[in-house]
Amino acid sequence: MLTSLIVAAALVQAKPQPEWTPETPVRILLNMTADASKSAKVTWRTANTPEKPLGQIALASPDPRFTKDAKSVDAKVSAVELPAGGQASYYEVEFTGLQPETLYSYRVGSEGNFSEWVDFKTASAAPKDFSFVYFGDAQNDVKSMWSRVIRKSFREQPNAAFMLHAGDLINLPNADNEWGDWFYAGGWIHGAIPTVATPGNHEYANNKEKQQLEISRFWKPQFAMPENGIAGLERSNFYFDYQGARFISMDSNVRIEDQTAWLEQTLKSNPHKLAFMTQHHPVYSTAGERDNPKIRNAWEAIIKKYNVAIVLQGHDHTYARYNVPTGIQGHDKNSGTVYTVSVSGPKMYMLGKAKTYMNRLGEFTQLYQIIKVSQKKVRYEAYTSTGELYDAFELTKNANGTNKFIDVKVNSKQRLEAEKAARAAKLAKAADVHSHGTKKHRHN
Ligand SMILES: [Fe+2]
Repeated sequence: MLTSLIVAAALVQAKPQPEWTPETPVRILLNMTADASKSAKVTWRTANTPEKPLGQIALASPDPRFTKDAKSVDAKVSAVELPAGGQASYYEVEFTGLQPETLYSYRVGSEGNFSEWVDFKTASAAPKDFSFVYFGDAQNDVKSMWSRVIRKSFREQPNAAFMLHAGDLINLPNADNEWGDWFYAGGWIHGAIPTVATPGNHEYANNKEKQQLEISRFWKPQFAMPENGIAGLERSNFYFDYQGARFISMDSNVRIEDQTAWLEQTLKSNPHKLAFMTQHHPVYSTAGERDNPKIRNAWEAIIKKYNVAIVLQGHDHTYARYNVPTGIQGHDKNSGTVYTVSVSGPKMYMLGKAKTYMNRLGEFTQLYQIIKVSQKKVRYEAYTSTGELYDAFELTKNANGTNKFIDVKVNSKQRLEAEKAARAAKLAKAADVHSHGTKKHRHN
């Protein structure tokens, strides 16, 4: 009795220190910049706006006194109205004049409310081997189930140059709690490894009054992507160069034709042999009813003309890849751009009506991809969230600049079974159509 009274008294007296104040920086993100060998951008937010929000940066050192040499940079502030009422302050700081291939340490916040110091390395100014991680749609149950995927990818590739998200990071574009879940899932990884993000249809809301799609109010404050795309699509249509390769983000949700000339110019002016693209909607979808002919008609010929290595896509909530054979009558199967579709979150679609021309198909598997880039070879590896190799291929360059495609056989039981089932379903459907003489119409 006496013991329980003492315990009860202790509980009443215990006052845990608050781990968060309204000025505590949260949702800290290291952003890819147009030239990551010279600059870095960090974004974050707080509930209350402190008097002097800023970022600080110094050369990283094992000697803890490195912090006294830190340079301070004032942050730009913007307010975002929260759908549930009230507002949050978002900040952005750009560190410029950095040295290439150098380890720096930064922190953000305000006096008395700084983040921890975070180490990151600037890119090399010259071509050099690197790897990056690519995710398809995270979208649903992001805290509860996508967290496993980003954390596993970090365990396997902790020195990835950046993490690329091919749209639909969340489900409801303006749901503050969903964005909170996305930041929670990646935690401090978002602050330490640069993010590259292109928006999906779930980052766009339909403004019924204006009868137009509008990007999530959180997108631009959170993702300070390069602003070198077409006017009006800042931070969703952009490009950057990284250690001997050009990366292009197309906003496949809006103004498709408007971006076509820009795409051609951006590929034409690429000083490197290698180019990658990312966009949410697939040029080649896994299922007929999800086809995107407008995008294919606008961009595919240019992608082919400039020998883009891989187009990294999402949207279909399945796994697929396809390289378009080139040469006379498309007989050269070991060539062409590779179009990939992947999914990282738990929402899955069926492959029931899958296109069987796909080189690989998969379903019901949460995945992340590691892409290793050198000037001689690109190696693409898809992994399950539990760490098994699921699919792989390699690309090299022919003397004329075209891609040489090298298939890698991966005996993933899970994927092979999905492919077999999809092809069998297709054959059964074809037989059904043949016997009835007409195609059955189905609704989705
Ligand atoms: Fe999606």
